[in-house]
Amino acid sequence: MIREMILQTYTPAPIEGTFVGKHIVTVDQFAHKDLEILFHATMSLRKRVREHDRGLTELCAGRVMASLFFEASTRTDLSFQAAMRRLGGDVIGASNGVQFSSVYKGENLADTVRAAGCYADVIVMRHPQQGASFEAAYYLDKLNKRIDNPTVLISGGDGIGEHPTQALLDMFTIFDRKKKFDDLTITLVGDLRNGRTVHSLAKLIARYGVTNTRLAFVAPDSLRMPENICEIINTSGVETYETDNLMDVLDSSDVIYWTRIQEERFENPADYDAIKDRFIMTPELLKQAKADAILMHPLPRKHEMGTQSDHDVLDEDPRAVYFEQMENGMFVRMALLAKVLRGVYV
Ligand code: NCD
Repeated sequence: MIREMILQTYTPAPIEGTFVGKHIVTVDQFAHKDLEILFHATMSLRKRVREHDRGLTELCAGRVMASLFFEASTRTDLSFQAAMRRLGGDVIGASNGVQFSSVYKGENLADTVRAAGCYADVIVMRHPQQGASFEAAYYLDKLNKRIDNPTVLISGGDGIGEHPTQALLDMFTIFDRKKKFDDLTITLVGDLRNGRTVHSLAKLIARYGVTNTRLAFVAPDSLRMPENICEIINTSGVETYETDNLMDVLDSSDVIYWTRIQEERFENPADYDAIKDRFIMTPELLKQAKADAILMHPLPRKHEMGTQSDHDVLDEDPRAVYFEQMENGMFVRMALLAKVLRGVYV
């Protein structure tokens, strides 16, 4: 398979302080300094949006973002679109969704992406297959050599692989609330096997470089964090703790990152049914967490946060930060778009 070959051999450019023109497909491209630059820009943009700064629309005026979502999305899609518009840019997409583009006629990913690349300055793509964003970046590199206006690819989620921009907004939210990354217990709960957000977040925390922060992975045996990611984290020196018992870590966690069991990734519905009720966050359970803990969730949520009445109670808890996490997503994506398109200081 060409995609597997590309996934194994294609190395996207590390950021190394310069975002302009770089595809964003994995958190492996980021180092401590890059996150500092991005978060600084995010803070500045958030302040400017809140102050209704009209100068913002200068930042990406005349630039076009193509939205290519081969898989369902609410937050990632809408926040990228909103981010681009708030920066003065425009957004294009196949009129009736990508399934009614020439994909419907059987066009492959490499050609679909290059079509968008001919018209847009940046493509935001989500795809159900791991490695698809690497493949898209690889073919865009080829196209970019032949056209005057190079196009950048940003992954909005790559199967069960990675979701790099979600990790960026998750890290930003942790920092925004905790004002530090050191001396924390960060607990990731749920489907750690299929959840791309937790893969990217765990790796990004390790890449940032933290002192005395430990990562706790809470999952049923069949949904444990993949071995290769555990290895990367352990090699980085960050302490990890794996358990299937939330009670081992709930009352010592500073960050509780709750996730959905990824139903769509299960081949056998019986396997999903057997596991789906394993971890349910409820107001009762949250009582046992630290008073200054934060409860995060990339959303969407289903029954892993109980019933809608449970949601309503949890949402009122000052420790629940998933709405601001969601809002931060737009600010982080604004910073990223401004940086990859213009490299501007914001
Ligand atoms: C996540 C995703 O798509 O991976 N959603 C998101 O982008 N906020 C999480 C999920 O679907 O469970």
